[in-house]
Amino acid sequence: MYKYVIHGGKPLFGEIEISGAKNAAVAILPAALLVDGVCRIENIPQISDVTLSLEILRELGAGVRSINKNTVEIDCRHIRNFCVPDDPCRKMRASYYLIGALLGRFGRAQVSMPGGCNLGVRPIDLHIKGFEALGANVDVLGGFVYANAQENGLSGATVYMDQVSVGATMNVMMAAVLAKGLTVIENAAKEPHVVDLANFLNSMGADIMGAGTDVIKIRGVEKLHGGTYSIIPDQIEAGTYMACVAAAGGNVLIKNVIPKHLDCITAKLVEMGVEIQEDGDDIRVIRKHGLKRTNIKTMPYPGFPTDMQPQMTACLCLAQGTSMVNEGIWENRYRYVEEFKRMGAKIQVDGKIAVVEGVDHLTGAPLQACDLRAGAAMVVAGLAAVGTTEIGSIHYIERGYDDLTGKLQGVGADIRIVDVPDDDLRTESHAG
Ligand code: UD1
Repeated sequence: MYKYVIHGGKPLFGEIEISGAKNAAVAILPAALLVDGVCRIENIPQISDVTLSLEILRELGAGVRSINKNTVEIDCRHIRNFCVPDDPCRKMRASYYLIGALLGRFGRAQVSMPGGCNLGVRPIDLHIKGFEALGANVDVLGGFVYANAQENGLSGATVYMDQVSVGATMNVMMAAVLAKGLTVIENAAKEPHVVDLANFLNSMGADIMGAGTDVIKIRGVEKLHGGTYSIIPDQIEAGTYMACVAAAGGNVLIKNVIPKHLDCITAKLVEMGVEIQEDGDDIRVIRKHGLKRTNIKTMPYPGFPTDMQPQMTACLCLAQGTSMVNEGIWENRYRYVEEFKRMGAKIQVDGKIAVVEGVDHLTGAPLQACDLRAGAAMVVAGLAAVGTTEIGSIHYIERGYDDLTGKLQGVGADIRIVDVPDDDLRTESHAG
């Protein structure tokens, strides 16, 4: 087991290169199941959710060949298996994409219920309603989702999402690309990774229009062909490093981003007194003075992303005045607050609202990551804090950040990965 050890309080200077988007990669990799040819996928981030996605594809029988550390070739032509066992699915929420992809490919899927970060109740009812609208029978039994459309095949239909769901939008898109006729997804999610999945599928021969708006039209095609596709840069990874600079101070060029995807984050940081300069595919983040308070409400894209809420709250802990955070997507996204309080943060949580009273400084403390973005927020806080912060359970963070310590060391942060001997772990867990 490993932990991060951060000696905080040092401003950051230099350049950070952003990797491919996690939430696009974990959808595009299973979408390769729909392709009758070899997919070459570039700009894949090196994170544990990707490793797991590739392992699942291999276990299903796909040919997976690494070309270099960020490029992989996937050949799913000879797969005959539509069953995915319990273990890998429990480790990753995005394993739900296997249902749409296998159903689209075989007219059948048997996939264990997805796991992933504990952000509150994470139902998949909208995914299931979408598959049923396309003509599949779906049952959830003994922890598995059984979807079957073998008798008549899948047929296009109008699917109205009662709530905007990234996962359900992308999953229905996958099931619909090879279905007969036209599928229309109304009230679709508009996140950058929804558009990226549509672009990937279109580049392999699908006929999808409207991705990025709230109505997506998918005309079923006979088959998809192989090709090459490069994944978009990670909006949340970029946002996290922007928050690191905002909290710790300094001047960092964040390279290989799509600035438009960052508008919602940029706008908030500018309100807080951070200087942001866009230059093509790069943005420069400069923080010279103290941070000002603001309010944040998380919403579906193009609103402020829930996956940036903990990292921004870390910054607000250090802003002058009282800020209000309103979590509009997940019901259980403030579990990190108790850890921040150990650092001297002043935060009161009441349901979806957190009231953050800025303090002069945070003090380093031993912390435990409790989910992916909460863990990232602890890194943001630790970089700004006076003294030493130790963060345990870093496997959560490594699900979604490619070489986090290396990238931060490159801009002068004092952050290290330290091996925790088993004896110490036993002592820590006995401590309760
Ligand atoms: C994805 C992201 C996650 C991000 C979230 C919101 C991936 C792998 N994960 O998660 O990092 O926090 O989008 O941007 O891309 N809901 C239902 N029924 C459903 C599905 C969702 O009620 O069938 C609700 C959820 O409880 C939640 C809201 O809809 O309140 C949004 O969830 P959704 O957009 O589906 O999130 P995920 O796709 O799971």
